[in-house]
Amino acid sequence: MGKTPLNVRGSALHQLENRYSTTRCYSYLRNASAFLESGDGVTADRNRWGIILAVLMIVSGVAHGNARGQQTAEFRTPTPPNAPRIHGPKIYGVRPGHPFLYRIPCTGIRPIRFSARYLPASLKLDRRTGIITGEAPAKYGEYTVELAAVSAYGEDGRTFKIVVGDTIGLTPQMGWNDWYTFYDHVTAADVRKAADAMFASGMADFGYQYVDIDDCWAREPGSGDPELSGPARDAQGNILPNARFPDMRDLVNHIHSLGLKSGIYTSPGPLTCAHFEGSYQHEAADARQFAQWGFDLLKYDWCSYGQIAKDQTIASLQAPYRKMGAIVAGLDRDVVLNMCQYGMGDVWQWGREVGGNSWRTTGDLGLAKGSSLPGFYSIGFANAEHGRFAGPGGWNDPDYILIGTVGDARHQNSGARQTQLTPEEQYSYMSMWSLMAAPLFFSGDMAKLDAFTRNVLGNAEVIDIDQDPLGKQAAIVRTTSAEFILAKRLDDGSLAVGLFNLTTAPRAITVNWSDLGISGQQMARDVWRQHDLGSFATVYSTNLPAHGVELVRLIPKQAR
Ligand code: GLA
Repeated sequence: MGKTPLNVRGSALHQLENRYSTTRCYSYLRNASAFLESGDGVTADRNRWGIILAVLMIVSGVAHGNARGQQTAEFRTPTPPNAPRIHGPKIYGVRPGHPFLYRIPCTGIRPIRFSARYLPASLKLDRRTGIITGEAPAKYGEYTVELAAVSAYGEDGRTFKIVVGDTIGLTPQMGWNDWYTFYDHVTAADVRKAADAMFASGMADFGYQYVDIDDCWAREPGSGDPELSGPARDAQGNILPNARFPDMRDLVNHIHSLGLKSGIYTSPGPLTCAHFEGSYQHEAADARQFAQWGFDLLKYDWCSYGQIAKDQTIASLQAPYRKMGAIVAGLDRDVVLNMCQYGMGDVWQWGREVGGNSWRTTGDLGLAKGSSLPGFYSIGFANAEHGRFAGPGGWNDPDYILIGTVGDARHQNSGARQTQLTPEEQYSYMSMWSLMAAPLFFSGDMAKLDAFTRNVLGNAEVIDIDQDPLGKQAAIVRTTSAEFILAKRLDDGSLAVGLFNLTTAPRAITVNWSDLGISGQQMARDVWRQHDLGSFATVYSTNLPAHGVELVRLIPKQAR
């Protein structure tokens, strides 16, 4: 099979696609590229049709009309090069002897051949897919692996440190959660489609990995809906999924087959927030069941536990999480524990100690009231206060990224629609989350992922700030009614600085080295546009549009 379609997809088509495409056209093209690799006549034929369809979609300009000028907005993220570029975390924690699954995130035109020098003997790399599977080494220690990716267009390499120990979640989790799209009507088919889209859209190539089911997969006691009613547990007390999730194991297997991971949700109370079956008095059995199904993450949502807790003391707030933290740590697979209790009792101070890998610091972002600023700002400002408690293994969680086509949490049945955030606000959102080393979970509709949203979510240099191995959350440098400045120390000695204009008028924002605790010549790099801005001696200034952001990396000159 010739390379022509692949070339086309990588250059002119990709540019066009950036302007006009839908996820579907992108996925046709991508799948076509992948199948063309296989050299099998039937799939190649089918995919020739895929390519034709994709081109027709582009030519007919099928586009999602984004709110408030998104369609005409500047796409800040440059198109990734045709040559391979390896992304994702540089450090990865796993418990000894546990099942291992990691797909090397890598952009560029496929086929790409992967290799991994010094990979521990208990692990195996599929050179074509870049998926590493097997069992983590039994011995505690650090294993420094040299990853490489080679294609007809070039090559790339990256050091990947596997740390076998007791701590997982050494960098913030990245993925998708269904809540703000599907609410109480989520189905296995929706989740499967989201996983497929994470793969096909290229999101997984930037490091998005977890595909998480939120509330409403279990039975709803007392429900009149035949799909949700029936006994919540079997005779042995095992929790039962509702009829919309006919085969949990099969769903998780599918997600794993793509090299992705999967998350599930429950509550320590008798009922979840949406009044579905919770895990009260079944904690260990339910956790074992989740592990047997193959889940890799558990969101543990306080909800009706309020009726069980005898008071609001720290010990009472901690009790259910301490219990689940110990259970999860004793499972025979790595399960990330995402604590959700909205910041009660200053959870950031003790979330890690009770076994959490992340903890929500606020109420639901989708319910946050915007005043002069949209809701994500107030959540971001609150979360930014707790920077010193975040670090490898435990992260402040300000909730999901609500952009693209997303549902309204106040009117859950009204259907998903385009975000009302301006393009500038969306860049501000993603910049703030990355500077705060927040878990990056998109919660819009993966099947309707448009090109602008992908450009916001899929900027490798922005994501690198979030995933930096040092694991520092940004410190607040300035907070006034007009300006917000965050600065995050990075592993290579550079400093990521976010300058946020909070006003509705253009504004010049200036930051002095003395504000940042640095000195000397600094090379400034525009992280979104991925180009160097020059050298600066004592101060950095920029003009920002209404609610605009600039994210710069200041690299001490001698460090280059
Ligand atoms: C709470 C959580 C949300 C979501 C819903 C599900 O509101 O904070 O993130 O999980 O419950 O009912």
